Amino acid sequence: MKQAITLAELRSWVTATRARGERIGLVPTMGFLHEGHLALIRQARSDAEIDRVVVSIFVNPLQFGPREDYHTYPRDPERDRELVREAGADLLFTPAVEEMYPPGFATRVEVQGKLTTVLCGRSRPGHFQGVATVITKLFNLVGPDSAYFGLKDAQQVAVIQRLVADLNFPVRIKVHPTVREPDGLAMSSRNTYLSPEERKAATVLYRALCSAQSLAHSGERRISELEEHLRRIIRTEPRARLDYAEILSWPDLEAAECLEPGKIYLMAVAAYLGRTRLIDNLLLEVHP
Ligand code: PAF
Repeated sequence: MKQAITLAELRSWVTATRARGERIGLVPTMGFLHEGHLALIRQARSDAEIDRVVVSIFVNPLQFGPREDYHTYPRDPERDRELVREAGADLLFTPAVEEMYPPGFATRVEVQGKLTTVLCGRSRPGHFQGVATVITKLFNLVGPDSAYFGLKDAQQVAVIQRLVADLNFPVRIKVHPTVREPDGLAMSSRNTYLSPEERKAATVLYRALCSAQSLAHSGERRISELEEHLRRIIRTEPRARLDYAEILSWPDLEAAECLEPGKIYLMAVAAYLGRTRLIDNLLLEVHP
């Protein structure tokens, strides 16, 4: 496996790969890799439409708010490099901040409207602008044929799909289901912040989602009732402070009153466990 640190190194690898007619898959990450990331790398590796796999590791300052965890975000470059190599990537791209955003950098890419103003967009203003900007740069630099994202960040997936459609990026977005711990907690690099007590309490998010899903499957169609059910369960956990629990249409993220058979909805929750903000979701489909 090769490693590129500068844009020039990356470009020369991409040019040589393209000259051989090889198709590139990109897995963008912020590092501190877990099974969720490795599942994306393996998905790219075994994708019949892809010849070479690029993994980027870049903790993107643009997507963190001023009071968020950019400076303390967990980092372990040595371990990450080994995991990326074992998972079968061909190139690891690990640029420095100054390489991605040199002095004078002044451009932002923004998907406007509902997709970026509801859910995490409301709690984290500017977050999706930071994501859209770095993804646009990575797509321009790597020119991937396919790019891989986890459904754990469902709103990010919806935003990136819109970005790709609106700006005509010739890239297929491939989505991997959320990878979970045995007790249901969605894998996240931020789980490492949790104390043992918070880690136990954090399972309330997935429990709430599963319970609301069962309620919907047993016939409850009123979205306000289902959302209240989610909130009630999360509030039973004294260590959890609810940020949001909402059910919106998927992938447009529009509010609705009732679940309609045949349509897909995103049940999304976010809560603080101590100072750590965790998110989770399930896609909900009701049958006639
Ligand atoms: O999901 C992430 O880790 C990040 O938001 C991404 C897509 C790598 C952009 O920085």
